[in-house]
Amino acid sequence: MNLQSVFDWLQSWPISEGIRQSSWMFPAFESVHVIAITLVVGSVMIVDLRVLGLTTTRKSVSELSWEVLPWTWGLFLIALISGAFMFAAKANAYFTDTPFRLKMLLMAAAGLNMFFFHFVPLKTIHRWDRDVQAPAIAKLSCGLSLAFWVLVVTMGRWIGFTIQG
Ligand code: HEM
Repeated sequence: MNLQSVFDWLQSWPISEGIRQSSWMFPAFESVHVIAITLVVGSVMIVDLRVLGLTTTRKSVSELSWEVLPWTWGLFLIALISGAFMFAAKANAYFTDTPFRLKMLLMAAAGLNMFFFHFVPLKTIHRWDRDVQAPAIAKLSCGLSLAFWVLVVTMGRWIGFTIQG
């Protein structure tokens, strides 16, 4: 089974045909996607800006993360499901679309950076949790996170201008 036949299979789903033929289903999925991704990126930025010492400095980093990150993961799931259905409807076209590919690569990079932050700077958080100024390695990771997510959103928006069919 090659990628082409997988994409043909995704596109043959009744819901995929429905999304392609309906005048309201794609806009409905895209609206859910836009609301979810706005809240995902917004919630990630709240924690990044705190670690960079730019906002919410009266709260400790761990306190803020515990409050915000469950929302981030829940909303990411909604972004993933709504994005996956839009993808399935025109899988062959999206897979060959450069902004779509760059968006997926940037999301993978943002994910790797999140793992790095979790397994390296966060391991010493007991030393800097309440400090306004976090260690340079933590700031670097959160600065990269901001850049990756801004680029993911930019590529996501660009898809609409480049997608064929
Ligand atoms: C939190 C992560 C994500 C962010 C920040 C994001 C961002 C975006 C943005 C900004 C748009 C353009 C919306 C518009 O202009 O109306 C978009 C559209 C789209 N996204 Fe995502 N997205 C995310 C996750 C995903 C995932 C996981 C998938 C696929 C599995 C996906 C697939 C799509 C598709 C197919 C479109 C429609 C493009 C079009 O035809 O206009 N997205 N995304």
